[in-house]
Amino acid sequence: TSKLVSAMTLTKLGLTHVPQRYVLPSSQRPNLDHIVHSSTSLPIIDLSNLQNPSLRSHTLDEIQMACKEVGFFQVINHGIPLSVMNDALDATTEFFNLPMEEKMVYLSDNVHELIRYGTSLNHVRDECYFWRDFIKHYSHPISDWIHLWPSNPPTYKEKMGSYAKVVQVLQKQLMKVLLEILGLNPNYLQNEIEKGSQVLVANCYPECPEPDITLGMPPHSDYGSITILLQSSPGLQVMDYNKNWLSVPVVEGALIVQLGDQMEVMSNGKYKSAMHRATVNSHKKRLSIASLHSLALEKKIGPAENLLDKEHPASYKEFSFKDYLDYISNNYILKGERFIDTL
Ligand code: SIN
Ligand code: FE2
Repeated sequence: TSKLVSAMTLTKLGLTHVPQRYVLPSSQRPNLDHIVHSSTSLPIIDLSNLQNPSLRSHTLDEIQMACKEVGFFQVINHGIPLSVMNDALDATTEFFNLPMEEKMVYLSDNVHELIRYGTSLNHVRDECYFWRDFIKHYSHPISDWIHLWPSNPPTYKEKMGSYAKVVQVLQKQLMKVLLEILGLNPNYLQNEIEKGSQVLVANCYPECPEPDITLGMPPHSDYGSITILLQSSPGLQVMDYNKNWLSVPVVEGALIVQLGDQMEVMSNGKYKSAMHRATVNSHKKRLSIASLHSLALEKKIGPAENLLDKEHPASYKEFSFKDYLDYISNNYILKGERFIDTL
């Protein structure tokens, strides 16, 4: 394990080319100069409008459209102070700036590990590497997990902890809204949402000498219910209806919401789980913090009964999140694929 070479280490070496192991086959390269003019828009939803009776219904329509088309939108006025978001990004910066030995304590290729540091997606299993370092840990309920989190930098627990808690609150609010728009009782699955998990993944994508031939993270959809993502600078791309990659602009104070596979299944395909990837660049280190939310582990999730009738039969099989995770980790097919089992 002492041989791990992180993306940060490579950047510090000042290479002019990426090592061969990071070079993507030409069909999978990001084509960064190609600007797409898409008919799909990436909406920025002002959540405070949901409190305003004259704006509420239009806002719900906007969210619904976004869920149907790409499974993606940004939110502003979501109640999370900018200072809490910036503190979480600061804690991320400081963690990745630690000497390698300190980060290596958390190094693991086991996806079931409760806290895990790594590079690429999985430094043992990846054939092609991705230009990314990450630290990942369970976060809800926070009292169950925080003792496992890094104690260095000294403010990590406090800053990440404050962020994790408010994001968990936002997640529950968003889930209620998403269920309402589907026409389901907002209390549907409340228990599964309450008992669901939250995993925080802090990503660091250092400057890369050849951003055109590599990626920070390959195309994928997230496996859970929703992901709430904070990015320090541009790099995230989502796939639109016509399979074009759209760059997600950075809007100050905004958080990105992406629907995951559980929502696509639960909505019987009315909502899409967002296909996305992370690109890298040569001039500025990029950070992101993904909060991955999932419904309770043991519960079998299938299309909601209330959405099914003769004209709308179930399009997806039921599965428990636990089985899904096992399936993903045993098959290890993350590149451009989704795992959801359609009928
Ligand atoms: C992710 O897909 O979890 C991270 C994407 C990003 O860094 O923007
Ligand atoms: Fe993701």
